Amino acid sequence: MYKVDEIRKLFPMLNPQKTMQGKPLVFLDNSSTTFKPTCVIDALDKYYREETSNSHRGDYDLCYNMDQELLEARKAVANFVNCDVNEVVFTSGTTMSINLVAWCYGMKFLKEGDEILLSEAEHASNLLPWYKVASLKGAKLSFVPLDKEGRVTLENVKKALNKNTKIVSLAHIGNVMGFMIDVKGIAKAAHEVGAIMVVDGAQSVPHIKTNFKDWDIDFLAFSSHKMCGPTGVGALIGKYELLEKMDPLFSGGGMNITFDTNGDVEYLEAPVKFESGTLNLAGIMGFKAAINFIDELGIDNIHLHERELREYAINELEKLDNVIMYNKNAEGSMITFNVKGVFAQDEATLLNSKGIAVRSGQHCAKILNGFLETPATVRMSIALYTNKGDIDAFVEALRNGGDILDAYFND
Ligand code: ALA
Repeated sequence: MYKVDEIRKLFPMLNPQKTMQGKPLVFLDNSSTTFKPTCVIDALDKYYREETSNSHRGDYDLCYNMDQELLEARKAVANFVNCDVNEVVFTSGTTMSINLVAWCYGMKFLKEGDEILLSEAEHASNLLPWYKVASLKGAKLSFVPLDKEGRVTLENVKKALNKNTKIVSLAHIGNVMGFMIDVKGIAKAAHEVGAIMVVDGAQSVPHIKTNFKDWDIDFLAFSSHKMCGPTGVGALIGKYELLEKMDPLFSGGGMNITFDTNGDVEYLEAPVKFESGTLNLAGIMGFKAAINFIDELGIDNIHLHERELREYAINELEKLDNVIMYNKNAEGSMITFNVKGVFAQDEATLLNSKGIAVRSGQHCAKILNGFLETPATVRMSIALYTNKGDIDAFVEALRNGGDILDAYFND
């Protein structure tokens, strides 16, 4: 197990001198984005100071070296999620990855009357691309009913699947409630009716071991910035035989072999055919550094650390009588809650005044609030570098929630 307080020293944003509203910064919005360790910042800096060149486009050493680095980054991602190297497409993040599947697979293979199975707990990035493609193709959207707790269960998925279901697209861990699906069981059930399984891994890949091959899923989308890497980069993992069948969404430089004046184009093979234009190479170098960093700590150790802290936080919150928690049993690293009688955004504003960063509102999952029967919630979320001190500061701020809130607004 790693020593969290040693790890914290590697993150400039966790410098104890750093303040927000004049108070020591307590960052508990890690499901939104994460801080970066110096090895990631150094990788970006190294690209710009020492390695700047394009990939695939030059016959000189710098460019050859960048091609090699890009391959190494692809291998690092493949190794991290257990897929083949040529199954890794670099994208700008989860949203673009899911859009690629919707536009390049959905638009090509969906027919009128086909069904796309989703859930009410999904993030907008795993709904809106499907809405658009479904409307263009005359396909139907259907939603797995959530169970009483708010989970997407294998049993309910099986009931919702039918011979028309062609795509099942679900978050492995939801971004609001943090419930984990039985990804392997659902993929198997989807395949039994002839559907493919798309997984939004944005909230799971940074926190638990991912096994693309063993789960036998068809596509996996995730982002670097939620796993201590840079913003603007992520990956789409796709089974190679599916990537091969799909046409690229964006055309341009770097992804073709030849084209002529008749309009004929020959594309490079996957994954490169989906990576037109100059890639975010600095970002990819940082992404690789983030994966190495996580590998060194050990994803299982990270999971254990986050579980222990989450349990500690829940125990402490249970001692308060003013907090309503919505997801005590969730597998994800977040706790979603409200303070009795306080609107979520007011609570987040109050926490901000105490130096504590959390997210409030609908968290981009705008259908879920109907299920939760509340217009908004507050979400605190833990990362590999969160410590007990962060949780104590957070709980202390909530303990005095009502009183402080009165003082704050009556000032
Ligand atoms: N998807 C991110 C979140 O849930 C932004 O906060």
